[in-house]
Amino acid sequence: MGLISPLVREIPPRLTMNVLVTGGCGFIGSNLVRYLRQQRPGWKVITLDKLTYAGNLENLQALERDSGHAFVKGDIGNRELVDLLLAAHEVDAVLHLAAESHVDRSILGPEAFTVTNVLGTQVLLEAARARKLKRFVMVSTDEVYGSLGPTGAFSEDSPLKPSSPYSASKTAADLLALSYTHTFGLDVVVTRCSNNYGPFQFPEKLIPLMIANALEDKPLPVYGDGANVRDWIHVEDHCASILLALEKGQAGHVYNFGGAAERKNIDIVKGILQLLGKPESLIRYVKDRPGHDRRYAMDFTKAQRELGFTPAHKFEQGLADTVRWYVANRAWWERVRSGAYRSYYEEQYRARLTQGAA
Ligand code: NAD
Ligand code: TYD
Repeated sequence: MGLISPLVREIPPRLTMNVLVTGGCGFIGSNLVRYLRQQRPGWKVITLDKLTYAGNLENLQALERDSGHAFVKGDIGNRELVDLLLAAHEVDAVLHLAAESHVDRSILGPEAFTVTNVLGTQVLLEAARARKLKRFVMVSTDEVYGSLGPTGAFSEDSPLKPSSPYSASKTAADLLALSYTHTFGLDVVVTRCSNNYGPFQFPEKLIPLMIANALEDKPLPVYGDGANVRDWIHVEDHCASILLALEKGQAGHVYNFGGAAERKNIDIVKGILQLLGKPESLIRYVKDRPGHDRRYAMDFTKAQRELGFTPAHKFEQGLADTVRWYVANRAWWERVRSGAYRSYYEEQYRARLTQGAA
C-alpha cells in the first residue's frame, strides 16, 4: 500500500496491554470486550461509549466486577476526554468501533453519521497520533465497496463506492485512518467486515428484528423483493478477526473478513420463521430502502493467508443459536424495544454519580 514510515512496525503479541475499545457497549463492541477479557486475561480493557440509543451498558453486565475492565461514558469527539483516558490508562492500542451504524437511520438523518463516524474518528486519530500509540485498529465495513452484481466478490483492491450516508461516512473514516499511516506514521490497520449476527444485536437490524417480531406475532417487513444478498459472519468470528488484526496485521494494510455465507434476505426470514415454528403469512413485502445495495460478498483470502483467519461458525448453526439466544433473553430485547434499558446506566451509577465518583 505505498510508502510506510520506518516508524511503523508490527507489534508482537504481548502478555500485557492496555486496550481502548470505543463503542464497547454496542453489539459488536460488547461481544469484543468480553472476548478480549476471555482470550487475553492479562490485558486491561477500557470501554469508551457515549451510550446512544444503540449503546446498552447491560450488555457488559457480566463484567461488572471485573477489575480488568473499566467503563467510561463519553463521546469519541471529546478530545479532552480522549486525551485524559489515553494517558490515565496508559493505553497502548485503540480498537475503534464507536459509530452510528444503521443504514436506515442514516437515510432519515445523516448528520449524526458525519459527526460521529467522520469527525469522531478524526479526534481519535489525532489523540492516538499525539500519544504515539502502538496500534489503531479502524473497524470499517464491507459497505465501503458499494454493491455487487450477481457474481464476484469484494477484494481489498475493489473500488470504494459507498451508497448510503452510513457507508459514505465509514469510507471517509476508513480512508482518513489510512492517511494517518501514510502521512504521520501512525500504526493503523483497517478491517472491513461483512454483516454480523449473534447475541446482543440491537433489534433494528434484519436478524434480531425478524426474530423479535416473529416472537410477538408481528408482521416481518421485507424490503423490496427480498432477493438482496448479504454475507453473514457470526459476531464471535468478527471479534476474533479484530484481535488478529491487532496482533498480526501489517501497519497501513486493509483486511477483508467475511463468513462465507451469502444468503438472500427472504431465505433468512423464512429460516427464522421455521426455527420458531411461525407461519410465513407473517411476511410483508414493503417499499424498498432508497439506494438499497443489491449484493455483498467478500474475498477474504488475504486475511486467511496473512493472519490465519477462518470463520469458525457455520451460518445455519449460528442462526439457530442466535434464535435460541433471543428466545432465552426475551427480557433483554423487550427492555431494548421499550426503551427501559436506557435507565440501566442511571440505576447503575446513581450512587456513584451523587458521590461525584462515576
Ligand atoms: P452498534 O450501533 O450496535 O454500536 C455502536 C456503539 O457505539 C454504541 O454502543 C453507541 O453508544 C456507541 N457510540 C455511538 N456514537 C458514539 C460516540 N460519538 N462516542 C462514543 N460512543 C458512541 O454498532 P455495531 O453493529 O456493534 O457496529 C460496531 C462497529 O462495527 C461500527 O463501527 C460498524 O460500522 C462496524 N461494522 C458493523 C457491522 C455489522 O454488521 N453490525 C459490520 C461491519 C462493520
Ligand atoms: P441491515 O440489518 O439493516 O444491514 P445492512 O443494511 O447494513 O446490510 O439489513 C440487512 C438486509 O436486510 C438489507 O438488505 C436490508 C434488509 N432489511 C429488510 O428487508 N427489512 C428490515 O426490516 C431490515 C432492518 C433490513
